Amino acid sequence: MEYLHSHNTLYVCLVFLVVFIVIKSTSTAFKPGLRSIPGPFIARFSCLYRPWKIAKGDAPDFYRRLHQQYGPIVRTGPNTVDISDPKAIPIIYGINSKFLKSPFYDTFHPVYEDNPMPSMFSVRDPVQHQALRRPVAQKFSMSSIKALEPFANECTNIFVDAMRDLEGQCVDLSVWLQWYAFDVIGAITFQRRFGFMEKRQDVEGMIDALDKGLYYGGIVSQVPALHHWLLGNRWVAKFIAMQPFIDVAHPLRTILEFTQKCIDDYDRNSADHADRPDFLAWLRGEETKGKPMPNRDMINHLSNNLLAGSDTTAISLRAIIYFLVKNVSAYHKLQHEIDQADQAGRISEYITYAECLELPYLQAVMKEAMRCHPGVSFPLERVVPEGGATFSDIHLKQGTIVGINPAVIHHDKTMFGDDADAFRPERWIESSEAHIKLMDRHLMTFGYGSRTCIGKNISIMEMGKLVPQIIRHFQLEWASDQPEWNVQTFFFAKQHGLKCRLRRRQQVPQP
Ligand code: HEM
Repeated sequence: MEYLHSHNTLYVCLVFLVVFIVIKSTSTAFKPGLRSIPGPFIARFSCLYRPWKIAKGDAPDFYRRLHQQYGPIVRTGPNTVDISDPKAIPIIYGINSKFLKSPFYDTFHPVYEDNPMPSMFSVRDPVQHQALRRPVAQKFSMSSIKALEPFANECTNIFVDAMRDLEGQCVDLSVWLQWYAFDVIGAITFQRRFGFMEKRQDVEGMIDALDKGLYYGGIVSQVPALHHWLLGNRWVAKFIAMQPFIDVAHPLRTILEFTQKCIDDYDRNSADHADRPDFLAWLRGEETKGKPMPNRDMINHLSNNLLAGSDTTAISLRAIIYFLVKNVSAYHKLQHEIDQADQAGRISEYITYAECLELPYLQAVMKEAMRCHPGVSFPLERVVPEGGATFSDIHLKQGTIVGINPAVIHHDKTMFGDDADAFRPERWIESSEAHIKLMDRHLMTFGYGSRTCIGKNISIMEMGKLVPQIIRHFQLEWASDQPEWNVQTFFFAKQHGLKCRLRRRQQVPQP
């Protein structure tokens, strides 16, 4: 009898729960303001619609298709709206905008001593953001970059030597360019190359760890509340880490542990470190000027370089090489520009950052490749502030999540022309000055406004030094048995299968 009674209570509770969920999701689905926004029917009711769709790894196509079907403003979740209207960019991301980063970013907090540690990239609170950004901003400035160039030169040398060694073979440049980008950022950050290129392997499984982190973050960030029940929960994370047969310990932990090891090594040998220009030495140097930095912040800044600056640069390098190999006329034009500069003595043996900025076609190729294939290809989510906001004549209430995806806006024909889908570096050279400025204002490769990428100049330096060196010394051709590369997007649009054959160019004098 008692058994039957407890069963009945359970059924009643379940019925109440179902009724509650139905009423709640129906009232959210038809919320004033949001109800008039077009979009897939199921997205009105369920926040699981996006993770379900995005899990395939084709977020750029998914969002482009949505906007083709539904227009510039699309409801992609009960409280989430995706926008492809260029006029919305300054409103959402402009320097004085009150739209703050959404809980999406919580999933990307690294964990320090079992607690989430918001990084300069993931932090949402503007005061905390300034507290993280201000003390290091100078190290990312144009004037500081020159001191970092020798690190990129060393890595360029190793890369070029390896390509000579692999001459004539089918080389997976997707892997090699990632090894290059990781080794450079390691050297810039700790004066210590990881040794990916020399060992020709994923050292300490760091690339694998980042890939897992992105896969997890890319999907779970669509429903950030889930994170608190998964790896964002210290007990769940600890429990999983203890399991000997499950290899899903917090993926970002590997990077943080490596960072701590580098700091410890530095402090043990502090006598040998006079005048080192890397980030670690610079931060320690600032401490001697009376600006002490807790270990937590030190780890935070240094690991953030690796997390935000390695994959993104690798993706952009792959895009540059891919579009050049696939567009013979652009390839020849760039090769001609580099050869002419070489013959006129305008470029050094290791092309300097200043020299690469004087190669206009190279700069146009880089910009165009990153326009066609932006490293970050998810909507950059923000929260509508107090008072709400109006987009495409639709008023959105405070608290609505909005976002613009660089991979969508970069194909906007009203900004980039009817051939917006095509790779055409000339658009950055032949268009009128006013039009180039307009296109620049709608380029979101490095984000936008107050949360724009702080490492942009570093990555342009890295790429601007390596790409002309490859084109100067080698002739590249597509060598994969597949007609295209394969792109998987989990926040970062990471490519695989960029297989090329490289041959030395005879007329170029060997260094
Ligand atoms: C081509 C390479 C790169 C691309 C495409 C890229 C892209 C981006 C984008 C799109 C954002 C804004 C994200 C958002 O609003 O959610 C961003 C922010 C950021 N990036 Fe980069 N990035 C690159 C290289 C780097 C490098 C080399 C570093 C560091 C050495 C770096 C460090 C950061 C940091 C710290 C932020 C957060 C800035 C803030 O919120 O104040 N990035 N990046």
